[in-house]
Amino acid sequence: MVAIKSIKGRRVWDSRGNPTIEVDVVLENGLLGRAIAPAGASRGSREAMDKRDGGPTLRGMDVQKALAQVNEVIAPALSSRIIGNQAEIDAAILALDPSPLKDKLGGNAIVAVSLAVLHAAAAAAGKPLWQHIADHYRRTPSIPLPEIQIFGGGAHAGRRVDIQDFMIMVPGAGSFDEVMEITSEVYFAAGAIMAEKGRLSGIADEGGWWPAFDSNEEALETLVAAIEKAGEKPGEKVVISLDIAASEFGKKGRYRLALEDREMDTTAFIDLLGRWLDAYPIVSIEDPVGEDDPEGMREFTRLFGDRVQIIGDDYLVTNSSLVKEAAEYGACNAVLIKVNQVGTVSEAMDTLLAAEKAGWQGVVSARSGETEDVSISHLSAGLGSGQLKVGSFNRSERMAKWNECLRIQDALGPNRFVGGRPLAKTWWGRKQLKGIV
Ligand code: PGA
Ligand code: ZN
Repeated sequence: MVAIKSIKGRRVWDSRGNPTIEVDVVLENGLLGRAIAPAGASRGSREAMDKRDGGPTLRGMDVQKALAQVNEVIAPALSSRIIGNQAEIDAAILALDPSPLKDKLGGNAIVAVSLAVLHAAAAAAGKPLWQHIADHYRRTPSIPLPEIQIFGGGAHAGRRVDIQDFMIMVPGAGSFDEVMEITSEVYFAAGAIMAEKGRLSGIADEGGWWPAFDSNEEALETLVAAIEKAGEKPGEKVVISLDIAASEFGKKGRYRLALEDREMDTTAFIDLLGRWLDAYPIVSIEDPVGEDDPEGMREFTRLFGDRVQIIGDDYLVTNSSLVKEAAEYGACNAVLIKVNQVGTVSEAMDTLLAAEKAGWQGVVSARSGETEDVSISHLSAGLGSGQLKVGSFNRSERMAKWNECLRIQDALGPNRFVGGRPLAKTWWGRKQLKGIV
């Protein structure tokens, strides 16, 4: 049993050029655990608050106050604690901040410490992180099916289109390598189509192509065309996943699609999404209505829950109580797991377990502001979550996470790729996986 010798936070910088927190946990035996806090841009109102300094410098985004919480409050409280039981250490962190949104310590301070402790425990056990996670939580590790962004929109692209993420999934692939290969073909095919139309103009926050389209449907049409140009038949090996992130343009049951200059109520908006589900090979849809529209979420789930995966992100903010409530209420059938949305690794774990108890899918996810930290690849693989959402197929903070999955796959063996199984309850799963799951 090894104890914590020191905890030190430092300011580092994320993929948007904003300051964030890195934490080093050093053990008595000299081993190190290190992690960096990510940052969201389309945040749920009930998620843990990042502590930012405000004021005129660095757009108010500096993290000196949160760093002071790491170095002056959390570090002394955890000093000399035995590493190994993540739940005990996370409880000790949370005892320092009973506020509902964790704004005393800051969600950014909490998540960096909690993840760094997990890394340190893996180092102490002499195991790679994914293996430590699998052993610690008694889970069967596997290589997840990724959702990969081709066009970025919404809050990640100056609201150039309303919908936030136009992604592909490759559930028909036989290995993670094949997913990467096909995604690379689709990503560049999409870029070539945009270039042909004279619409290629850079990339969005998570590395997807900048969505210079005249309508949200044009993005969907282009995505289908890109899948075809890559030599695949849309709806077979390759399918579409959307993050509507509807809280960004829908409030109190009114949805305003700025690009198309249209405003509609919940019923009309759900009708529109239903038409997209009929017209395009979509298997997964995230936050289809706003976080303040639980009736809409329940209605959407009632209508489409047996044919697509419906993921709650802003609506559920990785909160186990909200997941339990929503499952009883009949809203969503999957949850995004973003550790920094709730604070600690242990709370995120509780949420995944609550989701699985309800028969839901858990999708481990990055934030739009990321770094070289690859903890989520290990979390997804170690927990055998089945799915992983990281952003696009461009920019190193994203590619680092996909590449880490390839390394974990080498350790685990290719037959541990989950393939299309997590989509068994969707129309794609029913069509393709007969007799397999
Ligand atoms: P984020 O959003 O900008 O809050 O990280 C990502 C998402 O909505 O999934
Ligand atoms: Zn989302």
